Amino acid sequence: MSPFHLTSILPEDAMAAALRADVLHGLTSDPKTLPPKWFYDAHGSELFEQITELPEYYPTRAEREILITRADEIAASMPARTLIELGSGSSEKTRYLIDALTDLHTYIPVDVSDSALTQAGQALVAERPGLNVHALIADFTARLTLPDTPGPRLLAFLGGTIGNLLPAERATFLGRVRALLSPGDALLLGTDLVKDERVLVRAYDDAAGVTAAFNKNVLAVVNRELGADFDLDAFEHVALWDPGNEWIEMRLRSRTAQTVKVPALDLAVYFAAGEELRTEVSAKFRKEGVSAELAAAGLELTRWWTDGEGRFALSLSVAR
Ligand code: SAH
Ligand code: AVI
Repeated sequence: MSPFHLTSILPEDAMAAALRADVLHGLTSDPKTLPPKWFYDAHGSELFEQITELPEYYPTRAEREILITRADEIAASMPARTLIELGSGSSEKTRYLIDALTDLHTYIPVDVSDSALTQAGQALVAERPGLNVHALIADFTARLTLPDTPGPRLLAFLGGTIGNLLPAERATFLGRVRALLSPGDALLLGTDLVKDERVLVRAYDDAAGVTAAFNKNVLAVVNRELGADFDLDAFEHVALWDPGNEWIEMRLRSRTAQTVKVPALDLAVYFAAGEELRTEVSAKFRKEGVSAELAAAGLELTRWWTDGEGRFALSLSVAR
């Protein structure tokens, strides 16, 4: 079997410190917020995989359709020897790309979820003999140091996860992505597109309540890691479309007036009845906006593919 390395550049105490800082900042801000990266413990990663199979959640199916039909074109445009993937999760759709990249030497999946990375990495080395898999447990918003592997490099950021960053965070992030690439290397970026509000809201408020459970999982993470006493039933899942920002917002609305204790932070947080805590934005894009954000980071958009219904786009951009 080919090698599978799992390296953590996020030691457990650094993860714990980052969670404490984010929770302290977010729960003492007005309005209250929590960053979406804390959804993804083992249970949250499993809930996300269930979301990808929901009838209402079209982005995964739409992106998979593009990858199935365009993987050979992508590989011909960028015959990468190293494939880096940020927020790789299950790496399920990535398999189409890996199969098409016939000269691929190393796959480097990067994720905060060690359970997702381990499952995906072990399955891949078993399925693809000869492929080196060097998984990194890391926060993709930080400055990353990657192993020294052969170029050219293709960096994939799929699923529309870039939409979970705020605009200023996206600019910093894209600058860091560019710094990981050499001239001629490429970024393959998945972006969900602006569409009918009803379709969008349904995708984030499914009938089976899986997205509601995923949203509330962040409270379970804070309970477990920081000893907090959030009552998950005392919060209601909210998904709404913000037409000005062109993003979906997920929130948790307090059903009653309540005070939540977070002993590890020596904090008591008061929620008024109806008060909302923002847990995620999921921005939706247009081609001109994507192209401009990439250009500002030194990446030139060269290819743009959508699924048959024009719901989701994959773009290829080249580092200049
Ligand atoms: N790319 C996969 C998974 C998308 S879900 C797909 O398209 O289906 C988002 C993934 O990004 C999760 O696996 C989550 O653990 C990871 N993630 C979220 N925020 C992150 C961060 N700041 N750093 C690293 N990984 C992150
Ligand atoms: C990972 N990310 C692109 C998902 C999204 O659609 O914004 C996370 C998610 N949130 C609710 N459902 C799925």
